[in-house]
Amino acid sequence: MMDTAGQVIRCKAAVAWAPNMPLAIEEIEVAPPQANEVRIKIVATGVCHTDLYYLFESKREEGFPAVLGHEGAGIVESVGPGVAEFQPGDKVIPLPISQCGECRFCMSPKSNLCEKGWFSGYDGLMSTPESRFTCKGKKVLQFMETSTFSEYTVINKNAVAKIDPAAPLDKVFVLGCGVCTGYGAAINTAKVEPGSSCAVFGLGAVGLAAVMGCQAAGAGRIIAVDINPKRFEKAKVLGATDLVNPEDHDRPISQVLADMTNGGVDYSIECTGDVEVMRSALESCVKGWGVSVIVGCTDMHDFAARPIQLIAGRTWKGSLLGGYKLKVGVPDLVTAYLDKKVKLDEFITHHMTLDQVNSAIELMKLGQCIRTVMSVSPQ
Ligand SMILES: NC(=O)c1ccc[n+]([C@@H]2O[C@H](COP(=O)([O-])OP(=O)(O)OC[C@H]3O[C@@H](n4cnc5c(N)ncnc54)[C@H](O)[C@@H]3O)[C@@H](O)[C@H]2O)c1
Ligand SMILES: [Zn+2]
Ligand SMILES: [Zn+2]
Repeated sequence: MMDTAGQVIRCKAAVAWAPNMPLAIEEIEVAPPQANEVRIKIVATGVCHTDLYYLFESKREEGFPAVLGHEGAGIVESVGPGVAEFQPGDKVIPLPISQCGECRFCMSPKSNLCEKGWFSGYDGLMSTPESRFTCKGKKVLQFMETSTFSEYTVINKNAVAKIDPAAPLDKVFVLGCGVCTGYGAAINTAKVEPGSSCAVFGLGAVGLAAVMGCQAAGAGRIIAVDINPKRFEKAKVLGATDLVNPEDHDRPISQVLADMTNGGVDYSIECTGDVEVMRSALESCVKGWGVSVIVGCTDMHDFAARPIQLIAGRTWKGSLLGGYKLKVGVPDLVTAYLDKKVKLDEFITHHMTLDQVNSAIELMKLGQCIRTVMSVSPQ
């Protein structure tokens, strides 16, 4: 293999030149990693709904051109000065939230936020000006610091996790966002208890992982809710005990769930990004102690609820990347997969290459895939 360390790499990437347009497969230049940075050859990546959100739904004109993609896995190609933790050849997963290990948030066990990285100054823009990409003489921004729709990317060492060398990258990439997010929302944020009743709204990869998390936590009843009945089969495989399609009912879904559970579920987890669903998920919880977790992303709309819902003892929480401190949480989940304690294969429904990224996006828009794995660079 040619030694590329210290050199600009010319490679293929899917560039989002502007919102609401298909991505363009382009040759880009990827600069060598600077101090504390790692250059990674991306082997596999998936599309998460948050990529679609940024491209089609968030209605932002700024933040482009950018290379999207934040759920991926790869191999370290080279490291910049000051990086002792990684070596060329290490298998890694890029992290959408960094973990510097030193800031107020990293020092607290209560949060997985970090004062470093794109999310720390979050103003609705998910692409950061700090970027090692150029294309056709223009600077191309990095998305959620990771930009996995590229054969190579450069990421700060705080936002990279080293994983078990035995891990199959074309499977564990789903831990880079979707599965880690849903699973952790149940385990870490909701803190689902054995024997409890749970409802999960939205059964994409995130919601299905929440179903799996509820099952791992020992929930007695797991009600999976989606308007797309194609999702139900996978939900059953991952632990759902009841399947509910709101379109089969002519009354509010919260009433349907209340009737099924003697007054409401102990835990509900919203994984759609729809503010009406967030409200229904809260109202589906039992008064007294019900906990509802918002996972779906939007900063377009306010949400609403009657204060009495909370006064009566319900708790409304949000969860980012499943509440995991990701540098530790992601490698632990990779190990759990290798030990057959966590399922990942079930989430991968389609196989493509990076050139087909627009088809992968289309499949997700149509609700026809859970995750499409795209091969990016050969290993
Ligand atoms: N909080 C985080 O850290 C985090 C991380 C990753 C993704 N997300 C967000 O989680 C959400 C889910 O992501 P995904 O990749 O699984 O998306 P997805 O598009 O694959 O799945 C969403 C599911 O919600 C269902 N749905 C839509 N409207 C519904 C309704 N009214 N009632 C019931 N179900 C409905 C859809 O049919 C679909 O099955 C997105 O909003 C995404 O942006 C959040
Ligand atoms: Zn930090
Ligand atoms: Zn995501």
